[in-house]
Amino acid sequence: MSPARTWLAVMVVLLASGGGCKKTQPIAERDAEKIFATQCSKCHGPDGSGVPEQKKKLGVRDLTDAAWQKTVPDAQLIQSITRGKKNMPSWGRALDAEQIAALVKKVRSLAKDPQ
Ligand code: HEC
Repeated sequence: MSPARTWLAVMVVLLASGGGCKKTQPIAERDAEKIFATQCSKCHGPDGSGVPEQKKKLGVRDLTDAAWQKTVPDAQLIQSITRGKKNMPSWGRALDAEQIAALVKKVRSLAKDPQ
């Protein structure tokens, strides 16, 4: 390959990988605990019960509600996180399927059975 063509090939690769301007930048973090703490807890609270102010304003759901958790299949949680639901933002552009699956596990771990 001539030097000019090599340069062109490098530019094409650089542009294809991350040069695009998406509305939401992908989140690199892989640890669901950390994603929840940095992205989700501002509405859902660190324990998932919901920040009182956001509960009032946006109708944030109490994720610790074990009775509710039993009524929703994983597929619905995946869809709500990926596409959003009413005031819940969509994360399908920022997070990939693996990150979302890990977050569903995290959400499941928040359920608290009433004593
Ligand atoms: C801007 C506030 C906000 C942020 C940030 C947010 N949520 Fe939500 N979330 C909501 C609201 C509001 C609802 C209730 C939606 C409804 O049912 O009307 C909700 C509902 C949910 C539900 C229940 C969905 C269902 O099907 O009933 C899950 C699961 C959830 N959020 C997970 C997450 C995760 C994981 C994150 C972080 C990646 C996150 N949320 C970030 C506001 C937020």
